[in-house]
Amino acid sequence: MRLDRYLSQAGVGTRSQVKAYIRQGLVAVNGSLAEGPGQDVSEGTDQVAFRGEVLSGQRYHYYMLNKPKGVVSATRDDRERTVVDLLGEKKRDDLFPVGRLDKDTEGFLLLTNDGGLAHRLLSPKRHVDKTYLAQVRRPPTPEELQALEQGVDIGEKRPTLPAEAALLEDGSLRITIREGKYHQVKRMLEAVDNQVTALKRVAFGGISLDDALPAGAYRELTDEEVERLREA
Ligand code: URA
Repeated sequence: MRLDRYLSQAGVGTRSQVKAYIRQGLVAVNGSLAEGPGQDVSEGTDQVAFRGEVLSGQRYHYYMLNKPKGVVSATRDDRERTVVDLLGEKKRDDLFPVGRLDKDTEGFLLLTNDGGLAHRLLSPKRHVDKTYLAQVRRPPTPEELQALEQGVDIGEKRPTLPAEAALLEDGSLRITIREGKYHQVKRMLEAVDNQVTALKRVAFGGISLDDALPAGAYRELTDEEVERLREA
């Protein structure tokens, strides 16, 4: 829908009044100054603000959760505790995890009700960075690290995309991947005859997991972090 129509339907003013407001820089779409009255906005996906106040009945929420082991990346489950259950008093029916971490994986999981952003972050075309710390059965050799970086065969049509892999002093591995294939890190290590024994995601889309969050805790993302995700 056109932005001016959206604004007038939201009761901000007449079509000519809202056009003037847009020109005066009083309207923002997803946190950026509106481009013009004809800018295309989607109801329920785009966030429109007038004089700094979000208009739509829907307000977006963004939480960084430090997912503990033993919790499933789902919104609801008949038997298991889900990541959304961990939000306690902030739990809402419209919140969902952006992507999945395995039940035995810990670390940064984004929970939101912003379907548009989630869709963009998960799009295979986007290549959003995800960084993991992996405990492994044995320290990988330099050749194996190079193979992980260049791409390995995990039984998909194509090898994995270029990644970054570094051996840490304690023998564990820091690995950044740009895809999100099922069990990807575990399968990449299997491809070099190794095995992940523990996995933690420490960064997502250019945002690092907050050290102050113990496993199971969460906090809202800052505006700057949300912006960084929009640019990721
Ligand atoms: N790779 C995995 O193998 N598991 C995860 O949970 C995330 C990435």
